[in-house]
Order: sequence, then C-alpha cells, then structure tokens
Amino acid sequence: MKTTVVSPANIAFIKYWGLLDPQIFLPANGSLSMNLDSCVTTVTVDFLEQGDEDLVEVGYHGQDFVKFSPEGADAKKKLLFDHIQRIKDLAGESRAIYIRSQNNFPASAGIASSASAFSAITYALVAFYKLEPYLSDRKELSKLIRLGGSVSAMRSSHDGFVECVYGKDHDGCYSNQLADETYWDLVDIVAVVSAETKKVSSSQGHSLTSSSPFYESRLSHVPERLEKIKTAIENKDFSKLGEYIEEDAVSMHSVMMTSKPAIFYWTPETMEVIHAIREWRESGEVESYFTIDAGANVHVIAQGKDAQNLEDMLNALPGVKFTILNHPSKGARISDNHLF
Ligand code: DP6
Repeated sequence: MKTTVVSPANIAFIKYWGLLDPQIFLPANGSLSMNLDSCVTTVTVDFLEQGDEDLVEVGYHGQDFVKFSPEGADAKKKLLFDHIQRIKDLAGESRAIYIRSQNNFPASAGIASSASAFSAITYALVAFYKLEPYLSDRKELSKLIRLGGSVSAMRSSHDGFVECVYGKDHDGCYSNQLADETYWDLVDIVAVVSAETKKVSSSQGHSLTSSSPFYESRLSHVPERLEKIKTAIENKDFSKLGEYIEEDAVSMHSVMMTSKPAIFYWTPETMEVIHAIREWRESGEVESYFTIDAGANVHVIAQGKDAQNLEDMLNALPGVKFTILNHPSKGARISDNHLF
C-alpha cells in the first residue's frame, strides 16, 4: 500500500566532520542535534506501475519535480539507488519502486537536505515493506539510514534532541534520543545570507579532514564537549549550551579552513550575523548563539520567548536575505498526506 513519511532536517550542536570508515559511513566523532520543524522532506513510495527500473522524483518548494533513474545517476544519486536496492534486498522484493520526494524549504536556503531526504526515504521504504526490526526500533533504523550515505540523517530518526553515538563498527554507531521535541522551547532561526550552492561539497570536505593539522586536536576535544552539552541540555542551561555550540562550530570551521586545500564557507555576510548576535548578547539586548554547517548561512539558536524579536532584528541586517524559524520537531513519522 502507498506509504508516506515526513522527516525533518536537523541542526547539529556538536558537529560531525570527517569519516572513520567511508565504506559504511562511520563518522570520526559523535554528534548531537535538534530536529527542525520548518524544514522537512515528504516522501511517498509505491510500486512503479510501468517499467522495471526504480524511479525517483525530487522537488524543492516552488520548483518542478526532477526525475532520476539508476542509469546515468551521479555519485550521490547512485548511493541513493544502491540504498533503495539494499532495502529491497532486505525485504526480498524485486518489483520496481516509485519514490516521490518533496522538500518544503527552498533549495536556495542552503539547508542540508540530505538529512531529511535520506531519513524520509529510508523510513518510507521500511514502512512500505513493513520491514522489521527497522520499523519498530529507531536505533536499528538509524543504522540502516547511515548505510545510505548520510550520517546527519541518522539523527532525524528520533524525535527532538538526538545524539549520534560514536562507534568503531556498524553496530556501535547509532542514534539515540536525549529528549523529545516538547522538552525545551528553543528555536533555530536560519539567517539565509547566500542563495548560492556551496562550492566545496561536504563529501569533499570530509575527505580532506586529515590534511588539517588541527583535526586530531578537534577530535580529542569533542567527547568532552559532547558530555558538557548533554549536561547543559539536562539542566536546561541555555548560556552553557550556547557557549559549547559556538565553540564546536568554530572548531569544525577551523579544521575546514586549515585543510589542504583550505575550505572557506563563511562570507562577509556570515561574519556580519556573527558580530551582530555577539553584540546583542553582550549589550544584554537578546541572548542567542550561532552555529554554521558546511555553508555560509547562520543558524541562530535562541529561546522561544525571544524568537519574534530576534527574527525581526536578523531580517533588518543588510546581509540577511530571509529567515526560517524552526522549533524542535518530531523525527521521521508516517503521514496520510500522500504526494501522488
Ligand atoms: C557540517 O552534509 O556530508 O552538517 O551527507 O548528511 O552525512 P551527510 O552530511 P554532510 O555533512 C554535514 C556535516 C555538518 C555537521 C553535522 O550535521 O553534523
């Protein structure tokens, strides 16, 4: 029966950067994130009516759907078709499948869509084939998602605030829920400063990590920071949480900037937002903290009570094109709103 799943993107408070094992996508460090309710992918799956090659259609908000089939797929799409095949094999199914995937956020928002897309597609297929243990066990589901090629997508398998546990083999690396989406009224306001596609893909970035003289140092600090941030979440200590979020983002970007060749994701507008939120914080106007993924846009983490005011302040900055306000969200879930 036709199956639809909705799954969120997430923002990492502690980032994953670099792979221990690129074959099975084992990350080199643990990470921790919050799911984003305004940035979701919806996926509907059914058997393909005509033809024997799997078919995937992908659409961004406000854009036409683009069709993909295994033939002629680029490296990233090839990973996706291999993943679809992996799940069909687990289910013992050979009939061709039709997948339609739609993001509710614009492609130009610079928000990693791999997390929402890979988690949504994996869970939709698992639900479509009623495949156990993945259907009822989120830990097992997260490991299966990882094999598809997206580490950040593992964290969208659970609700709310989620940790990706560091492990040296397939069974040891999985995601784990720390608290559900109702636990803490935080927001992530994405300040979109650039509509351009990033020039260096994160997969290229992951492969360059060991060329940075600071990478080993970063890896040695992450476990302690991860523990400290978990304590800040447990105590709902916003100032501590923010301090560690910024520390980790700067640490990851230092590795990027010192890789060979160097990767600079930040632009003058990125710096403009960073300076503004530090200024507002120091002057006592509003307390918020920045984090940045593999791109120029700034994720501003704040408390719910300050969301409206802060969004207005961010939109008034000359470098900010638009903002997207996110609250903590549920993870991948089944929906009745089919895309076809
Ligand atoms: C900087 O974009 O390669 O966002 O493809 O989902 O594995 P996946 O992620 P990728 O790396 C993103 C890493 C990051 C930090 C993070 O989300 O942990």
